[in-house]
Amino acid sequence: MRLLLCGDVVGRAGREAVVAELPRLRRALGLDLVVVNGENAAHGFGITDKICAEIFTAGADVITTGNHVWDRREIIPYIEAEPRLLRPVNFPAGTPGRGFGVFSARNGRKVLVANAMARLFMDAIDDPFAALDRLLDEHPLGTVDAALIDFHGEATSEKTAMGYFCDGRASAVLCTHSHVPAADHRLLPKGTAYVSDVGMCGDYDSVIGMQKEAAIARFVRKMPGERLQAAEGEATVCAVAVETDDATGLAARIAPIRIGGKLAPAWPRDMEVAAHEAAAP
Ligand SMILES: [Fe+2]
Ligand SMILES: [Fe+2]
Repeated sequence: MRLLLCGDVVGRAGREAVVAELPRLRRALGLDLVVVNGENAAHGFGITDKICAEIFTAGADVITTGNHVWDRREIIPYIEAEPRLLRPVNFPAGTPGRGFGVFSARNGRKVLVANAMARLFMDAIDDPFAALDRLLDEHPLGTVDAALIDFHGEATSEKTAMGYFCDGRASAVLCTHSHVPAADHRLLPKGTAYVSDVGMCGDYDSVIGMQKEAAIARFVRKMPGERLQAAEGEATVCAVAVETDDATGLAARIAPIRIGGKLAPAWPRDMEVAAHEAAAP
């Protein structure tokens, strides 16, 4: 089975790029399930019901989030009614919405998708290790055909520790939040695909997706700055594709994808369903 996670979608530039690329990605790579991290999709802060609908229509099966999930408060009633929109599973009990779900892939198989948030240099929340330990105990591979975790965090140490903590129990631990793609994508020894950060879907001529001037000013002067605005130039779509073994649910392959914008392109030519169908970016 083939799974895809698109990194944090930032603002209009990121949204438009993801919406434009997803149908082609689905076809070219024969994707069975697509997850998009949408926590910065609304002008860099949060997500709205209208944006969720746009991303689902473009071909996403699940939308994950992170620390920015509640930046647009109008998402609260929507998330309560929409099981395909996730917030971190380790938010305190009683928080609206869900942190995981078991979803049907296009091939009819069942995929556990979970969203969790790290704690180092992040808000104080419940232990993500305990939360995912419980969740993977309740939904072991075998009862689901694959398990994809979007682990949203700042520190690569905590993210890498989570990868190894879940090794052999999840198909993939793919991390988000830094908005910068890491080059450490690999298969861990017991068969879990891992990357320290998928990167963002947004304009890289920016400070992690936001216009440079205001972002720089915040570091230069200890003064309340202008509001940060999402950068509007051509976006790079950063994603990671994972192929799982249908017999075990563990990962057989992991490949980074970068399309458009300022970053060097990356495209898994060897994963193309039919070479003539997909022109490399
Ligand atoms: Fe983000
Ligand atoms: Fe984040």
